[in-house]
Amino acid sequence: MLAADEKRLILLTWNKVLGHQEDFGAEALERMFTVYPQTKTYFPHFDLRPDSKHIRWHGKKVVAALGDAVRHIDNISEALSALSNLHAYSLRVDPVNFKLLCHCFQVVLAVHLADEYTPQVHLAYDKFLAAISAVLTKKYR
Ligand code: HEM
Repeated sequence: MLAADEKRLILLTWNKVLGHQEDFGAEALERMFTVYPQTKTYFPHFDLRPDSKHIRWHGKKVVAALGDAVRHIDNISEALSALSNLHAYSLRVDPVNFKLLCHCFQVVLAVHLADEYTPQVHLAYDKFLAAISAVLTKKYR
């Protein structure tokens, strides 16, 4: 559960992501595919070479979805309901992979926000991304 202060930190720092959604998303995906190559198995139809159009387009979509969650931070479950169905019923992504992508996205935030990625901001994103992962994986059960 995100505290009011943590929600405020997410909303504030998300302004630094706006305008860079495609770059940040692509960087997070590239990190995930490099550090955790087993995640590539879900994307056999993608060109996974660094900075490929597929990675950039997909990165933009993923970060746009995170942005939807930021805009509906009090009702993430409803905001991401369609994505939850997609990941659970169609894509059947093993839930363990969500932690990997969230970790990579946090590293990207830390790289770009530098000093602004304080331990408090880190904690807020940790909880926020865990809440999103919970929504995207809850329909597996
Ligand atoms: C598709 C978001 C985690 C695999 C998508 C789409 C979005 C999205 C927005 C596009 C849906 C559409 O085109 O309608 C997210 C978010 C995640 C997440 C916000 C977690 C924070 C993961 C993970 C994997 C994964 C961990 C696997 C390692 C896929 C695949 C597709 C997809 C295979 C379909 C790609 C395509 O064929 O275009 N996801 N995703 N997702 N996601 Fe996720």
